[in-house]
Formats: sequence, C-alpha cells, structure tokens
Amino acid sequence: MILSYNRSTEKERSINMVKQAEFIKSITDIKDAPELKLPEVVLIGRSNVGKSSFINAFTNRKSLARVSQTPGKTITLNYYLINNEMYLVDAPGYGYAKRSKEMKAQFSHMIIDYLEMAPDLEIVFLFVDFKVGPTKDDIEMYHAILESGMKVIVVATKKDKVKRSQHVKHEKMIKEKLTHVEKLIVTSSETKEGFNLIYEEIKGILVHE
Ligand code: GTP
Ligand code: MG
Repeated sequence: MILSYNRSTEKERSINMVKQAEFIKSITDIKDAPELKLPEVVLIGRSNVGKSSFINAFTNRKSLARVSQTPGKTITLNYYLINNEMYLVDAPGYGYAKRSKEMKAQFSHMIIDYLEMAPDLEIVFLFVDFKVGPTKDDIEMYHAILESGMKVIVVATKKDKVKRSQHVKHEKMIKEKLTHVEKLIVTSSETKEGFNLIYEEIKGILVHE
C-alpha cells in the first residue's frame, strides 16, 4: 500500500516538473549554439544508453527526441528548451561500434569541445546503463569530463531491467568503476523512477520553479 502510494507521488511530481518543452536546434559546432543564452544541462553517454528516451519521458513528450532500436541515432548536439528558462542538451552517443574510428574521434571531440567551451553549462549528467555498468568508453569519458573541470552526476538508466535483489550489487559496481563519483541517480524512463532526484538537481537553475 505504502509502496504504491510513494510510486504514484514520484510520478506525479515528475509530470508537473516540466511545463513546457520545445526542440530548438541541432548543431555540430559550438559556435552555432542558440542565440538566446540560458543555463544548460548536458546529457552525455554511449549510444543506446537511453539519453533521448530520458528526454521524452522527463518532458512527457512521446517523440520530442528521436529514439531508435538502432544505436547511433543522435549525431548532433540537440538543444531542448525547458520551461522557457533552460536547455537540456542531448549529446551524440559515443562508443557505437559500427562507426568508423574517425567518426568516433570526431564525436568525442565535439563533446569535449562543448564541455570546455560552453559558457552556460551548469550540470553534466553522464548516463550509464544500470545493468551493463560503466564500459571502457564510459570510464574514459568520465575522466575526460572531470579533466574539463566540470563535476559529473552519474545517471544510471534502465533500472526496470535489473531485478530488485540485484540493485545494490549494480550500484556498487558502478561506484567501483567510476572512482570518486559524488552522485549516482538510478532511473528508469519506463517507470520514471529517480526522475524526482534529477529534478532536484536541476531545479536550482530554474528561476521560476
Ligand atoms: P543514441 O541516440 O544512439 O546516443 O542513443 P540514446 O542514448 O539516445 O538511446 P535511446 O534513448 O535512443 O534508447 C535506446 C534504447 O533503449 C531504445 O530501444 C529505448 O526504448 C531503450 N530504453 C531507453 N531507456 C529505457 C529504460 O529506462 N528502460 C528500458 N527497458 N528501455 C529503455
Ligand atoms: Mg539519442
């Protein structure tokens, strides 16, 4: 009884968080960023980890961001305006095996350039798969983000795919692989679990919450 009550309130809260969401533009070069400057929150993670699904679930919009069974869908930095006061930026997924080496390097550069040059970047969410755990590419990206001087909040995705009895084990595995991780939020875009915690992190930059 208590459990189901908690779940529904968590879901309701996440539904009320985002009042407005709009796709603004896709860019491959930071100099083409939107003219209207607002605080930015970026979603970084390997291909197929669930970044675009998160944007859709978080904004309650079925197909605001493109989701596919085929990895490698997001190949640009995509700006979504939230509540008219901040941007969620969906970054291209790295580590997609079928891409050429040059293309992989190009994507990593695009992300690192963005981290180093985006003046309005406030929060970096690094997405990792809760079931798979951090891959070699994730660990490299984690360190690259830290080297850029930004703090990282790790978001584990697809919690619904891991049995409840395995949750603690998977959390431990992530914390071991991503040394010194300060914050880990475990989420599911299917159930919206953890979304209230994500909102807690970003609401500080929403002036009119
Ligand atoms: P790229 O655009 O290639 O970088 O991938 P992405 O990180 O945007 O992944 P995307 O959101 O496209 O999701 C990839 C696949 O994972 C899709 O088939 C989604 O339906 C699935 N998926 C995403 N989030 C969840 C989740 O929370 N639970 C489950 N079960 N599946 C999910
Ligand atoms: Mg995507």
